[in-house]
Amino acid sequence: MGAVNSVARPTVLVVDFGAQYAQLIARRVREASVYSEIVSHRISVDEVQRRAPAAIILSGGPKSVHVDGAPLLDPRIYELGIPMLGICYGCQLIAQQLGGVVARGSTGEYGRTVLSRDGESNLLSEFPDVFDVWMSHFDAVSAAPSGFRVTARTPEAPVAAMEDGKRKIWAVQFHPEVVHTSNGQRLLERFLVDLAGIEPKWTTASVRDSQVAAIKSQIGTQRAICGLSGGVDSAVAAALVHRAIGANLTCVYVDTGLMRKNESDQVVETFKRNLGIELLHVDAADEFFDKLAGVTEPEQKRKVIGETFVRIFERHTGGITDATFLVQGTLYPDVIESGGRDGASTIKSHHNVGGLPDDMTLQLCEPLRDLFKDEVRALGSALGLPDEIVWRQPFPGPGLGVRIIGEVTRDKVRILQDADAIVREEIRAAGLERDIWQAFAVLADIRSVGVMGDERTYARPIIIRAVTSDDAMTADWARLPHELLARMSTRIVNEVDGVNRVAYDITSKPPGTIEWE
Ligand code: XMP
Repeated sequence: MGAVNSVARPTVLVVDFGAQYAQLIARRVREASVYSEIVSHRISVDEVQRRAPAAIILSGGPKSVHVDGAPLLDPRIYELGIPMLGICYGCQLIAQQLGGVVARGSTGEYGRTVLSRDGESNLLSEFPDVFDVWMSHFDAVSAAPSGFRVTARTPEAPVAAMEDGKRKIWAVQFHPEVVHTSNGQRLLERFLVDLAGIEPKWTTASVRDSQVAAIKSQIGTQRAICGLSGGVDSAVAAALVHRAIGANLTCVYVDTGLMRKNESDQVVETFKRNLGIELLHVDAADEFFDKLAGVTEPEQKRKVIGETFVRIFERHTGGITDATFLVQGTLYPDVIESGGRDGASTIKSHHNVGGLPDDMTLQLCEPLRDLFKDEVRALGSALGLPDEIVWRQPFPGPGLGVRIIGEVTRDKVRILQDADAIVREEIRAAGLERDIWQAFAVLADIRSVGVMGDERTYARPIIIRAVTSDDAMTADWARLPHELLARMSTRIVNEVDGVNRVAYDITSKPPGTIEWE
């Protein structure tokens, strides 16, 4: 499975000790224009040496160093002389493993607190004597290991920062990666650039150029196919591969009939006309509606849509018999979530196009495997994709099918497309597009009574769903201004035939999911 992989570049390894801390740190490092990768705390000293990172960051984690089974680091890694920064749990672990003392907390320290610097510090030298930091810990280092200098404290943490310049190890109890720590990003940059001596060269242009080169060497003069979904990831992957291999890429766009209003036209317009990419536009709406007739149960619906998609995709790509590669828009968080770089691609390939056949003979090309969503967006813009595609909200594989409660029919799709377009237009007009994770309409399977122009109506309700989120794992309902909701409601009832009522979904996730089915 020939995934396009990292070309040589200075890399920071972010060691994961649990929860989401590592991901956020890795993103912040990349915001400092330094490439980072997340690795398990089980990484061996040999593996670290093989990868020769420019620096190592130990992340926070939910456990106490005192409990059985607390995640540890191979202590030989401390002796490699690779610049290291420990954060929160990482700081306590350094203290514990190098001979200091970590005291069990009695109250802990959560949220904003004031940090006071204490003596000389390489890490903190440019910082004020006192500044706000964000804490989230129960235990705390009470004595630094020998060779370490204590450089800051807070009311509850006598060792809020410590360092051993000789061993090139720095550690902070607070969280520089969260926005609430003032100058947190600057602290990370101080470590990466000034102390670890890394040149900050990881930029969108460098990503684009190195990935284009990597794809060229992976695919060469062979042919590749790419399934476009209308979403950002497959669009950017396709544009990148096209930049590398030109006419040897064929894109396949299966139009399920369950796409958002005008979405199909936009995909064809962008790829065929603007980018000049060979695009097979398969209008399969009839087949999808036939298969969905009478299907109401959500999981069954997803299954029918997924299977139909795969069958149609296979039928049409089967004609491209000389292709050796399948391009997929797998992102780094998917790789991390599926438990590491190896093996992850298999899981995602099934998920991405709704389940590829096991006997697939195509090799995978996944040029976005190392990237976070925001980096993919920046890359899309650098490749000339329009904002409407680059800033498109996430959209589920089964499309509007899972936003129509009950049976999916052409009529209902038309109603939902029109209502959904109004919701998105109004969000855009209010300038909220980049603050809202997803905003869309759902069509319920009930009718209610209303009155319009002295006439009784008996029609369907539209439910507006708008959420804020960082990663879709959790989400909160968006506190949209009432005037905005009022405008959406008025427009939907007036402009969309078959709708006489609008409701707003005020459920967070959990307990609700973002989609209704
Ligand atoms: P839920 O509804 O589980 O959705 O809170 C979380 C995020 O995933 C999107 N979603 C999907 N994406 N294929 C996808 O590629 C799917 O089948 C699918 N179902 C949900 C959803 O839009 C949200 O962003």
